[in-house]
Amino acid sequence: MNKIITAAILGGSGFVGSELYRILSMHPQIEVRFLSSESQKGLFVERQHKSFRFHNHNSALKFSSLSQLEEHYDIIFSCLPNGRLPEIVSRISKHCTRLFNLSGDYRFQEENINKVFYPATSGSLPEGIVTQYFIPEFTEVEHSANIINLPGCMAVAAIYALYPLVRNGLVAGDIVIDAKTGSSGAGKSTSETHAERSNNFRMHKAFNHRHAPEIAKLKYLALDELEITFASFSLDTPRGIYISAYSTLKNDCTENEVRKAYFSHYQETSFVHYLKSGQIPMLKTVCGTNHVEVATFVHANKCISLCSLDNLIKGAAGQAVQAANIYLGLEAVSGLVQLNEAGWP
Ligand SMILES: NC(=O)c1ccc[n+]([C@@H]2O[C@H](COP(=O)([O-])OP(=O)(O)OC[C@H]3O[C@@H](n4cnc5c(N)ncnc54)[C@H](OP(=O)(O)O)[C@@H]3O)[C@@H](O)[C@H]2O)c1
Repeated sequence: MNKIITAAILGGSGFVGSELYRILSMHPQIEVRFLSSESQKGLFVERQHKSFRFHNHNSALKFSSLSQLEEHYDIIFSCLPNGRLPEIVSRISKHCTRLFNLSGDYRFQEENINKVFYPATSGSLPEGIVTQYFIPEFTEVEHSANIINLPGCMAVAAIYALYPLVRNGLVAGDIVIDAKTGSSGAGKSTSETHAERSNNFRMHKAFNHRHAPEIAKLKYLALDELEITFASFSLDTPRGIYISAYSTLKNDCTENEVRKAYFSHYQETSFVHYLKSGQIPMLKTVCGTNHVEVATFVHANKCISLCSLDNLIKGAAGQAVQAANIYLGLEAVSGLVQLNEAGWP
């Protein structure tokens, strides 16, 4: 079948952009025709992307500068760093029907949150542009949306871990979440060296992480006041996010009710798997794939909710492809089910 949906990737040389290109190269209907990179412009994409080293692809596609984006594409994926898209959004949005945005810009409409976490976003949206925050498993498609904002990787992992519990009103009080993440979460230009990261485990951020307000979106689902404490930790591994969330259940809530809530939310989903009683989520089972593992452990009125996923795939590139599939009316799993090997890094 000919690929018929044309796509551009902005920030195509980064960790997320590379994964997106790798996934879309296997997608039956979406064809990438433009990738931006300022540092690699003019170079052949598949010679630069190391995951193509042993592939027999012969694509003539070269990286271009953002300023060379001239044609119209059905969809554009923006994998630019936070703060870059707002500078160019009015120009970029003229070149596509829909923009899938992986940065944090435009995830929030609340000015007070943007001011603190995404200052470049304030006032940058052109008139008439409609944005939507989209988690494939929980959000209905809003057909008028031009910019679809994908969730942050740690935020969405925490939301997968807790959504059924909170949605079903089973939590009595505070929730404590800790998120452990691999080094690719910081992008390719992180200042932390391998020597510092390796053989180490440490807290990354206590309080005021920019993913905290996204996780707090869970609060709007809860009937009661809910307090959420969130901290992130740095793992000595390139990929993967592991969430442990601790909550106190309402007095009459049983383990059976908890299991039923998770089962009913996730039984129909293609990629979020609620594990059998006693099974434990891992990074090895999800890394390199678009899959998510979720489990709960209940003792008396305490619940531990766990979630694992690959930050670059279900936390970013795979999630964006899944969202695009849904928006385009394609099968939600298109291009994603055969993913079973890790890309680069
Ligand atoms: N890493 C993750 O796990 C993850 C997960 C979810 C969402 N995200 C979000 O996805 C986006 C990309 O993350 P990443 O980890 O792929 O970052 P990255 O590895 O640092 O890549 C950033 C990309 O943007 C380009 N770029 C950087 N500054 C630019 C500028 N001023 N103008 C034009 N292009 C520029 C870079 O290309 P050149 O340097 O070659 O020009 C590169 O292609 C970020 O917004 C991040 O928050 C990341």
